[in-house]
Amino acid sequence: MVPVLEDDCLEVLACMLDLKHDIIRGMGAVLNEAERRRAAGLKLGRDRRRFIACRGQLRRILAARLGISPSDVELEYGRLGKPRLSHRMPSRDLRFSVSRSGDVAVIALSTGREVGVDIEAVLPVPEADEIAALCFSASDYESYAALGPDNRLEGFFRRWTRLEAISKGQGCGLGHPGSSDDEDWVVRSFVPQTGYLGCVVVRK
Ligand SMILES: CC(C)(COP(=O)(O)OP(=O)(O)OC[C@H]1O[C@@H](n2cnc3c(N)ncnc32)[C@H](O)[C@@H]1OP(=O)(O)O)[C@@H](O)C(=O)NCCC(=O)NCCS
Repeated sequence: MVPVLEDDCLEVLACMLDLKHDIIRGMGAVLNEAERRRAAGLKLGRDRRRFIACRGQLRRILAARLGISPSDVELEYGRLGKPRLSHRMPSRDLRFSVSRSGDVAVIALSTGREVGVDIEAVLPVPEADEIAALCFSASDYESYAALGPDNRLEGFFRRWTRLEAISKGQGCGLGHPGSSDDEDWVVRSFVPQTGYLGCVVVRK
């Protein structure tokens, strides 16, 4: 796990998901029954491996912060699936958000403030302009449309990851607009690894 951003009450760690088989097996051992069922339900071995590696590392990080063992970490879920620490855990003040893209994952941790994170591999998106017109706010779309061809792709992902990070901070996900907007969040962009872009938001 590599720290990619550290700030007052905010930390973002990046981890790789293409781990060796025996390490994945060890991660699988700390998952609970429901997580193992979820992994078993994934058709592709690659997706199973990525889910187990990500959830195992999340459990390890949370366990280290809480001073308990990874298999004792209890999570609960919001209405639309946002995971959080169960009310039975020793520090309910610890908030987190997770994002994965390919073999890279990031885990954002915050104390006392809601947090959302998103990362994306910066790859060509043929329908980027249509997505931008549909999903971006008027001012975001205007500034995106003004970008020259050399800055377009990065500009698209910068705005997209911010949008996703805010919706993940809200716990709603895209397509389920929440009640807060950009002004409610401190926004930080970062590069989790070459070829990727990330954005993390914490509630002001
Ligand atoms: C949440 C959501 C934005 C994830 O986006 P994504 O780019 O596909 O995936 P990411 O890798 O960035 O994030 C995945 C992580 O977000 C977290 N997550 C899941 N649901 C979430 C939610 N509603 N809010 C915030 N975080 C969420 C989980 O930690 C998940 O990790 P996991 O798959 O290892 O459990 C997307 O799934 C979404 O829009 N969900 C909306 C909720 C919804 O409509 N659910 C319908 C379920 S039937």
